[in-house]
Amino acid sequence: MGAEHSRPPSTFGRRHGPRLRPARRALLATLLPRLALAVPTGSASAPTAIDPAAAFGSTITDLWLEIGFGAGEHLAAQAAAHPEIGLIGCEPYVNGVAALLSRIDAVGLTNIRIVADDARPLLAALPAACLGRVFILFPDPWPKRRHHKRRLISTRALAELARVMKDDAELRLATDHREYARWMLRHLLADPDFFWTARCPRDWREAPPDWPETRYQIKAAAAGRPAMFLRFRRRVRGRPAENRRPRA
Ligand SMILES: C[S@@+](CC[C@H](N)C(=O)[O-])C[C@H]1O[C@@H](n2cnc3c(N)ncnc32)[C@H](O)[C@@H]1O
Repeated sequence: MGAEHSRPPSTFGRRHGPRLRPARRALLATLLPRLALAVPTGSASAPTAIDPAAAFGSTITDLWLEIGFGAGEHLAAQAAAHPEIGLIGCEPYVNGVAALLSRIDAVGLTNIRIVADDARPLLAALPAACLGRVFILFPDPWPKRRHHKRRLISTRALAELARVMKDDAELRLATDHREYARWMLRHLLADPDFFWTARCPRDWREAPPDWPETRYQIKAAAAGRPAMFLRFRRRVRGRPAENRRPRA
């Protein structure tokens, strides 16, 4: 399943894109500091260093995480649809963070917190069993074999996700890259902490009803690359493994 070294390689490309408009730069300077979730550096060696629920008001009933939110359309739509949920979004691409801030500002969303960086130190800093749902939508496929070690989905990342996800929490993955889909399935089906919820092909060919399209998804569809939607559950701790496979 690919070499996984003690210090994992970067999973993302650029951090900066084209020069931002002044309004977006202003949001980065003023709104981001109010919504940023601080992740202590070196948290990999000092796990469970933060209390994510404390970053939200007491009305929050669950915490969801989106890793690599891109321009934030899915995260903002989920936050608007679920005001009772605290959503954490991670994205190192500054222009994407600015786009999300613009959505938050326009609609007045109050239930999003942002880590404008790599999600992996955050995962290491989160307490066990704190997340009810995790989205990783259209992660960079890193198609060249020598780059497979950069893929977000890895044995190591799944172990970290299994630690921070609650019993029966949902992991939602999507990709338009067939080989990466096979990679995702290979890793998840081999993982005793997760099971695939699909029962029939429609379950991975069609988006769930509560799935706002992402920018990348729209581009891929326009280019003739349909998305695959892979939904898994974190197995209840202490219950024996039993991976259900969909009927062909
Ligand atoms: C292909 S884009 C998809 C963006 C968005 N999910 C969509 O569907 O439009 C993948 C995104 O994942 C982000 N990413 C990659 N590695 C990441 C990591 N370790 N932590 C957080 N975000 C990451 C990249 O910066 C990029 O914006």
